[in-house]
Amino acid sequence: PVLVVDYGAQYAQLIARRVREANVYSEIVPHTMAVADMLAKEPAAIILSGGPASVYAEDAPATDPALFDAGVPVLGICYGFQSMARALGGTVANTGAREYGSTVVRVAGTGELLAGSPVQQTVWMSHGDAVHAAPAGFDVLATSDGSPVAAFEDRERHLYGMQWHPEVKHSVLGQEALERFLYDGAGLEPTWTPGNVIAEQVQAIRAQVGDARVICGLSGGVDSSVAAALVQEAVGDQLTCVFVDHGLLRAGEAEQVEQDFVAATGIRLVVVDAAQRFLDALAGVTDPETKRKIIGREFIRVFEQAARDVVAEAGAHGEEVRFLVQGTLYPDVVESGGGEGAANIKSHHNVGGLPEDMRFELVEPLRTLFKDEVRAVGLELGVPEAIVWRQPFPGPGLGIRIIGEVTGERLEILRAADAIAREELSAAGLDREIWQCPVVLLADVRSVGVQGDGRTYGHPVVLRPVSSEDAMTADWSRVPYDVLARISTRITNSVPEVNRVVLDVTSKPPGTIEWE
Ligand code: XMP
Repeated sequence: PVLVVDYGAQYAQLIARRVREANVYSEIVPHTMAVADMLAKEPAAIILSGGPASVYAEDAPATDPALFDAGVPVLGICYGFQSMARALGGTVANTGAREYGSTVVRVAGTGELLAGSPVQQTVWMSHGDAVHAAPAGFDVLATSDGSPVAAFEDRERHLYGMQWHPEVKHSVLGQEALERFLYDGAGLEPTWTPGNVIAEQVQAIRAQVGDARVICGLSGGVDSSVAAALVQEAVGDQLTCVFVDHGLLRAGEAEQVEQDFVAATGIRLVVVDAAQRFLDALAGVTDPETKRKIIGREFIRVFEQAARDVVAEAGAHGEEVRFLVQGTLYPDVVESGGGEGAANIKSHHNVGGLPEDMRFELVEPLRTLFKDEVRAVGLELGVPEAIVWRQPFPGPGLGIRIIGEVTGERLEILRAADAIAREELSAAGLDREIWQCPVVLLADVRSVGVQGDGRTYGHPVVLRPVSSEDAMTADWSRVPYDVLARISTRITNSVPEVNRVVLDVTSKPPGTIEWE
């Protein structure tokens, strides 16, 4: 792999993703990892990320010079660049000339790293210290007003560095520079493609599972679907999927799983229609957190029973169900500590609630993948586009989009309104632009309307289209007025219980994406 050494900024994941976009496999490791342990991973190249510290700060993470003697090509970025300069005998100083944001660098010599670069280019900087003298053996490739040495390389030893952030899109030729490092500096081939990922994972799954049986809970979302499709590709009918239909999905979603997904993948699927059970459990409940708890609890109970049935059925054939598929993604692995066992703790927690005697070993075929890679793999495996591109949808589903008690009738109303909103947003080509668009039924609010000759007392629905990168922050989407108008007209015309459509124009923070 290409190792991305994380010096504690938020950039390491982004760097790793950009390397993958160049079709080269990358992994993130903490800067506290010993050089010997890094080398034990047999890295094809190493990238040192940016970080918040000054290299001269007392507790600044240092870079062990041994890293540069191993014959592995290294690229230092921002803090990593300075740390590298310092470790190899260059000078780094704080001149007070800070550079933040878009900055012009002048290319002094293109070398290998900047081959093909124009003499001036706009890059993204974020630093206070600067490299003043390159270590012996290095050529200076670029300078800027605040950075006497803005990029350097030692072609002999395959060591490269740049003060700016090539992983940030504002660095106009950033991806090109990364690719020059990967392909020319490190001599790597762009072989990390969906097809190869599938081939590798299929082998790994077969090796792990042998001829034991495997179970997988499908939610209708992209992660569990692609994970299941991969395992199906690897071990076929040893896999049984369980889909708990809690009756809180949107119009057409259960059919997408039960029909389209099964038709596309040939997966063996057990469907549990538990809609009435969930409605009974939710009767009279209005508090959002209580709803979440009830839905989570019932879900585990229903899944557990279905799992027991699958285990019993396998047992009747003398087979053992030993494995459970989890759709853990790479960011989960990194965020829970990055270590081999770290994500296991989290995913055990996810299945948490399964009783002691139902412990399965985990199969996590997406553990190395970012979300966009999961989608690419899904498409390659023939998973229906509606699932691969499904926007995030909360586990408790429409249960937390009905403000007030959840009833069958209210679910019908919300489903009808939501289907119209989704249809119009799709028709307007806004699916990829909008992160998600909850449609919320204010079931306990009555608003006055006039329809035909009479006054009506209906309910408002709220449209909550947002744009976001990761759901941690969000902004309300500027959906064109004519699209909003069509949604409003169609909903009020065809859903008689709704006589008002309102738009939520709150960012997050302070408003969350969901209403409960
Ligand atoms: P909020 O409303 O907190 O939502 O801004 C952030 C993201 O999380 C989703 N969400 C949930 N997902 N169970 C889930 O699986 C939940 O209880 C839940 N609540 C919110 C929400 O749709 C958004 O993508």
